[in-house]
Amino acid sequence: MKFFVDTANIEDIRELAETGLLDGVTTNPSLIHKSGGHFLEVVADICRVVSGPVSAEVVATDHAEMMREAEILRKIAENVAIKVPLTIDGLKTCKALTSEGAMVNVTLCFTANQALLAAKAGATFISPFVGRHDDIGFDGMEIISDIRLIYDNYDFETQILVASIRHPVHVLQSAKIGADVITAPPAVIRQLVKHPLTDRGLEGFAADWAKTGQTIA
Ligand code: G3P
Repeated sequence: MKFFVDTANIEDIRELAETGLLDGVTTNPSLIHKSGGHFLEVVADICRVVSGPVSAEVVATDHAEMMREAEILRKIAENVAIKVPLTIDGLKTCKALTSEGAMVNVTLCFTANQALLAAKAGATFISPFVGRHDDIGFDGMEIISDIRLIYDNYDFETQILVASIRHPVHVLQSAKIGADVITAPPAVIRQLVKHPLTDRGLEGFAADWAKTGQTIA
């Protein structure tokens, strides 16, 4: 399973990229706003740090304007994936861009039927939002299972990119279902490493090692 980070904060991206575990980055207009930077410059900075797919989202809602914005975003770097919303115009744009060889991430997906349409439109990635589903009292992960089943039934190559992840259990469930990619905020990725027994074990080993009076040399 690939790990993307869902942020436009370049410091967080740099730090996570250094682990060698980061496969890509996803951004959206809200994350760009939070970063405080200029959209095109922020995306260019991220693409200099990460060689995997970096999702940059169009803000237009009609097909012609989405295509114009996508053309600008595609010029930033080879690894830019154009993010389009799951609307008729977004799907039309997805079809056109993937026919030209661009990577496309179809976002704001909330049903398995929407994911089926995105796959038929040739999407590289489909981004179902699990956390926002949980927020309104539904089980977001059920949609991931349904999408996995449907995509496998028809051998669709569209990658399931689980988005709107809120906690490590979403990551675990995504891996068990066989999602292709997760995108999580930096804090959730850091949480995956932590366990109190790991910390306690390390302290114990360090204390006993000190008692030996030895060094590794
Ligand atoms: O980038 C798309 C998605 O991950 C947004 O997550 O936390 O705003 O629901 P969230």
